Amino acid sequence: MIEKTTPVVIAGNWKMNHGVKETADYLDKLNHLLSAREDLGRALSEGFVRLILFPPAVHLYIAYIKTEGTPIAIGAQNVHWESKGPFTGEISVSMVTETGGGYALVGHSERRLLFGETVEMTSQKFVACLKGGVTPVLCIGETDEQRSEGQTEAVLSRQFDGAFREIEVDEKTTLHIAYEPVWAIGTGNTATPEDAESACRFIRERLSGRFGSRISRTARILYGGSVKPDNARELLSQKNIDGVLVGGASLDPESFLRIADAALS
Ligand code: PGA
Repeated sequence: MIEKTTPVVIAGNWKMNHGVKETADYLDKLNHLLSAREDLGRALSEGFVRLILFPPAVHLYIAYIKTEGTPIAIGAQNVHWESKGPFTGEISVSMVTETGGGYALVGHSERRLLFGETVEMTSQKFVACLKGGVTPVLCIGETDEQRSEGQTEAVLSRQFDGAFREIEVDEKTTLHIAYEPVWAIGTGNTATPEDAESACRFIRERLSGRFGSRISRTARILYGGSVKPDNARELLSQKNIDGVLVGGASLDPESFLRIADAALS
C-alpha cells in the first residue's frame, strides 16, 4: 500500500438533485452516521481526510447551517467570475462565501459541454475564486472520442494550460484538480485504476512544470467518473490519486460514507 499524502479528499457533487428538505435530511443523517464513527471522525478532525459536498446553490445556506461546527465542508457547483452585475442566473464568489461555501467546482464537463463554458471562462472563474477566498476545484477530462484518437494528454494539457494561463500562486496554495474523463461520468464505466493513475500522474507532472515541485506535491488531484463504494479503495490506493469526486454515489449519505471509508486504509 502506498503511503498517501493527505488530506485525502472525498467530494460529492450532487448536480441538480435533492430539494431543500432532502438536503436537510441528508445532512442530519450524515452527521448522525458520522457521530458513531470514531475512526473516520478522528481522521477528519486530524485532517487526514476531508469531506466536501457540492449541493445545488439554492441549498448552500441550509447546508451551511447543518454542517456548521462539523468536519463537512460545502461548496458551489459553479460560480461567475464577476463580483456582481447583470448576469441572470449566475452566482458570485462572495455569494458562495457568505453562505458558508469554501469551495467551487470550475469547468465541470457538464458546464463545458452542455452550457458552453470555455477554457477562458474556467481561467476567469479560477482566478475569481482564488481572489475571493474560495478554493476552486478545476475539472478536466477527455471525451470517449478524444481518448480513442489518442488525444487524452493533449486535451488535458489544453484544459490545464488554458485554466492556469494567467495564474500566479504562492507556495502555500493548495491547488485542486479533478481528472474526470467524460466517458466515465454517470456511465458506470469507471476508468481503470491504472488509466486514472496515469492521467493523474500526467497532471501532477504538468503542475510541477508550471508551478514547481512543492505546489505539485501538495496539490490535491482527484479522480471522478462512476466512483462507487466498491471501487473507491483501489482508485485511492494509486500514488497520484489524492481523492475522488463522486456524483451519483454521493446522493445517499451511507454510500458517500462508505466511499469515505476507503480513504482510511
Ligand atoms: P458520477 O459523476 O460519479 O455520477 O459519474 C461524477 C461527476 O460528474 O463529478
